[in-house]
Amino acid sequence: MLERLNHVAIAVPDLDSAASTYRDTLGAEVSKPQALPEHGVTVVFVELANTKIELLEPLGEESPIRAFLEKSPSGGIHHICYEVSDIIAARDHLTASGARVLGNGEPKTGAHGKPVLFLHPKDFDGTLVELEEC
Ligand code: CO
Repeated sequence: MLERLNHVAIAVPDLDSAASTYRDTLGAEVSKPQALPEHGVTVVFVELANTKIELLEPLGEESPIRAFLEKSPSGGIHHICYEVSDIIAARDHLTASGARVLGNGEPKTGAHGKPVLFLHPKDFDGTLVELEEC
């Protein structure tokens, strides 16, 4: 079911500063910031040859990453995203296996304009997992 690693996401308190670290200190290609109000985050993608790093900053008071940054004020790895070819088939297989899908279970449109779902970290070794249909 799982295919390629799409990205690793890092929650950061200051997106400009984090983008500058990747661009100027690490010499990576960094995209322009993109606001995703439906997800409560502003994102920047660091483009690598084999995958991407997604830098996330809270957007709005209800941002789902605010609590994460309260616990880890300097930032930290927030989730990993795997590609699947059929997100509805993946969801149905996972829920039939007892795994919990976050939210109402229906895919939302992610940062790349493709359907995404998040899976409960307690069902995946303490790691928040995002699935993206590719
Ligand atoms: Co993501």
